[in-house]
Amino acid sequence: MDDLNEKVFEAVSYIRTKVEINADIGIILGSGLGNLAYSISDAVEIPYEEIPYFPHSTVQGHEGKLIFGKVYGKNVVAMKGRVHYYEGYSMQEITFPIRVFTMLGISTLIVTNAAGAINKKYKIGDIMLIKDHMNMSGNSPLIGKNHDVFGTRFPSMQGIYTQTLRDAVKEIAKQIKFPNLQEGVYAFMPGPQYETNAEVNMLSILGADAVGMSTVPEVIVAAHSGINVLGISCITNTTGGEEVSHEDVLEAVNQVSETLVTIILQLVHQL
Ligand code: HPA
Repeated sequence: MDDLNEKVFEAVSYIRTKVEINADIGIILGSGLGNLAYSISDAVEIPYEEIPYFPHSTVQGHEGKLIFGKVYGKNVVAMKGRVHYYEGYSMQEITFPIRVFTMLGISTLIVTNAAGAINKKYKIGDIMLIKDHMNMSGNSPLIGKNHDVFGTRFPSMQGIYTQTLRDAVKEIAKQIKFPNLQEGVYAFMPGPQYETNAEVNMLSILGADAVGMSTVPEVIVAAHSGINVLGISCITNTTGGEEVSHEDVLEAVNQVSETLVTIILQLVHQL
């Protein structure tokens, strides 16, 4: 994607023909979390396939559309569905939507995902605030020509999961009496295969609390442009010794999705 700027410009220009407003908050709805979209008022939906260069997904449970609208008076743009690295897209392709969000003016990105527990204390149905990540893919969406309009060549990855956003969620969890909020390190594995026991062991030794196949590329790109990030994982399964299936993951997300939607809406309310 050498002419990234031009492609982003084209995508934004197309979006501008459908919606006039800028977006303040971007939200990526992971597998099974699409329900949040029903809380967006004055919604304008744009299917990914209509937007120039926007990648679209092939996985069951990942619908693909952008939803622009308002939540508690704030302008939001939500991605219902996302593409993954394991689908065969390049890192640059999967993070293209974040470049578009950046050009649309977002200052905050909320990213949700499903993740397996590496931390033995975590239970299915826990919600984990991501406090830091490990990029275990050996790749980066920032490899290649640096696009100075978006950020610097060697961006810092310190404190990219914004502390104030995490603190706000902790407070909301207290208020709604949700006891299963965790805070930990998310390890990004490229997938699509789930981890071997040896890999689970490795991630545990390295200090990961949860593992998943998304989020980190998007967050790196958001951090490149200095966007505030909140990352939230739904803990859908334990790892190491137990079979995991995509169906079980979706089922577990379903159980916690209502709480997660409440938390995100409350957070947007406070922003
Ligand atoms: N591993 C990787 N990705 C996942 C998992 C897992 O155990 N659960 C949900 N997404």
